[in-house]
Amino acid sequence: MKALDLLLNRYSCARLAAPAPEGAELEVIWKAGLRAPDHGGLTPWRFIHVSGEGLSSLSSIFAKAAEAEEGDHEKAKAMPFRAPLITIVIASPKVHSKVPEIEQVLSAGCAVHAMQMAAFAQGYNGIWRTGPMAYSPVVNQQLGLSETESIVGYLYLGSAQTKANKPRELDFKDYVSWL
Ligand SMILES: Cc1cc2nc3c(=O)[nH]c(=O)nc-3n(C[C@H](O)[C@H](O)[C@H](O)COP(=O)(O)O)c2cc1C
Repeated sequence: MKALDLLLNRYSCARLAAPAPEGAELEVIWKAGLRAPDHGGLTPWRFIHVSGEGLSSLSSIFAKAAEAEEGDHEKAKAMPFRAPLITIVIASPKVHSKVPEIEQVLSAGCAVHAMQMAAFAQGYNGIWRTGPMAYSPVVNQQLGLSETESIVGYLYLGSAQTKANKPRELDFKDYVSWL
């Protein structure tokens, strides 16, 4: 797939099923994440791979969080099973005199996008999700995040089960100005 075709025609898919990327395909996805722009070369990210039994473990964590935080327990429990594979992307900022935390969180966000595009380029699809489970102290604790780390996204990956929605037609003239 040509780079510009990918950038201009990419789309997300929320309905995902097996097969999911594995082996060398998965390694390409992670390598793409590691090519995200990174001020100071701080590698301010880490990824947690969740598939198979891991989805059940994540489901238990979500259920525990929903219970503790008065969320919808059943809904939370079902969430991880919306795809055969989830990569949890964690911003792991380092203390640095010239690179503020926000830049490092942005880098981790770029890693999510790069990985989604690497999956798309290999014939898979996915969706970047957050929601309450991305901002839950219980989830953070259960996943072993440090005080300074945060979840920037759950990247759900697999094979698309629905056709692409017609993308919004945005006109660049509404968003670009010239100085
Ligand atoms: C930081 C971030 C968090 C998001 N969280 C959710 C989410 O929790 N649930 C959801 O349905 N879409 C979420 N989205 C949006 C989808 O990933 C996707 O971009 C959107 O459905 C538009 O589809 P498209 O990528 O095909 O344009 C999020 C996007 C970003 C950038």
